[in-house]
Amino acid sequence: MKITSLAHEYWSKIVSPGDRVIDATCGNGMDMLALSKLLDGQGELIGYDIQKEAIQKSEALLKKSLTHDQFQIIAFHHQSHETFLEKSAKLIVYNLGYLPGGDKSLTTQTETTLQSLQSACCVILPGGTISVMCYVGHEEGRREEEAIQEFVQALPSDRWCCSHHRIINRHQAPSLYLIQRLRNIG
Ligand SMILES: C[S@@+](CC[C@H](N)C(=O)[O-])C[C@H]1O[C@@H](n2cnc3c(N)ncnc32)[C@H](O)[C@@H]1O
Repeated sequence: MKITSLAHEYWSKIVSPGDRVIDATCGNGMDMLALSKLLDGQGELIGYDIQKEAIQKSEALLKKSLTHDQFQIIAFHHQSHETFLEKSAKLIVYNLGYLPGGDKSLTTQTETTLQSLQSACCVILPGGTISVMCYVGHEEGRREEEAIQEFVQALPSDRWCCSHHRIINRHQAPSLYLIQRLRNIG
């Protein structure tokens, strides 16, 4: 199973119509397409990307693939994801790296990704999840994953449940971190 399929499968278990969901790296819009089908026209789906080209590609894909109702809950921010304009999200997803078929130098960067994850931890609802797909096949991606692993391992276990999924018999396989905020007890 591809790591993207595993992530999409997991998202389908936690997203319901009416939720607010953020794609922190919207790219070509494939992840937003999967998320918009789970929301089915109810709630909010927000995509961030630093590249205008990515937003335009995502918007075009979603417009042609979705019904009017499914499309009207979608918004985009052409800006970096260190801070989020929204609060209280059920799911925040990252698919790190560079835009497939685009400029490889415009890849996500370790420092901004870490700042964004800190913001995501403040925005995610109790019972919600931050999902991060990492690619170690390039230099910055390797650095980024090491830093993410350190960040995730240090989250307090009384508030967060964190897991890491990797296909272990494939060289430089991408991996998936799931950072689940525990529900408030009492
Ligand atoms: C691997 S692609 C995302 C794939 C996408 N989710 C899809 O389904 O097609 C990574 C994207 O992250 C974007 N990106 C890089 N740095 C960013 C930042 N600081 N804030 C938001 N997006 C960023 C890139 O422009 C690129 O489009």
